[in-house]
Amino acid sequence: MTGRNTPSPVLEALREATSDVHADLDRRSPLTDAILTPETYVDHAERVMGWLKPIEQGLWRGEVTDRWPDEIQAEQRDVKVQWIERDLLIGGYNAVRLGNLPICPYAPVPLTLPAAFGVAYVSEGATLGGVFLFDALAKRLSGLPLHWLQGYGKQTGPLWRSFQRLLAQQVVSPRDILEAQNAARAAFESFRCWVIDEKPCR
Ligand code: HEM
Repeated sequence: MTGRNTPSPVLEALREATSDVHADLDRRSPLTDAILTPETYVDHAERVMGWLKPIEQGLWRGEVTDRWPDEIQAEQRDVKVQWIERDLLIGGYNAVRLGNLPICPYAPVPLTLPAAFGVAYVSEGATLGGVFLFDALAKRLSGLPLHWLQGYGKQTGPLWRSFQRLLAQQVVSPRDILEAQNAARAAFESFRCWVIDEKPCR
């Protein structure tokens, strides 16, 4: 952030590069469907897991792991697959089935810090919309814990703000901003192809 409420140039650039695909997901997600059932939620969570596994692996245990500033608090952020695993276990899966779920083969794997910030913008930002959806769905799907949608709970705001601050500090040059934009777009598109269309991107 450049001021309390002014987005940094990189945040603005990321929003600009991804707002259309975010709006598309918002419109087409089964989670915004008026007749969402527990079965549909669990099927959706399974697809999200197949996308998140390689995304989290690439961000927090891959090529860029050592380049993150310490303040990123990687160990607090590298937990989203566990949220979904808990949802699926309560939704009727067992450990063997969980271990054999299909994994998205084309999720972007960041090789530079700006690209990692771009991918993390998507996985961290998703916790914001999740909280909004949780409020709307908790009563309708009361048998399920919806961990994925609760995000970091009370820590969601603070972790998003610290992410924004580090993003603004670390991704500054036009070249780095472009790299972050491309990575964020690739992450959103791989989500759309894998989770919503259930087929490889064209
Ligand atoms: C049902 C679908 C979705 C809905 C209704 C939704 C809704 C929202 C809402 C309301 C916000 C703004 C929250 C705030 O400012 O406090 C938000 C932010 C965001 N969401 Fe979603 N979302 C959805 C799906 C997703 C998915 C699947 C992803 C990523 C894979 C995602 C990524 C993001 C990102 C990156 C932001 C941060 C935008 C920014 O402030 O720059 N969203 N979403």
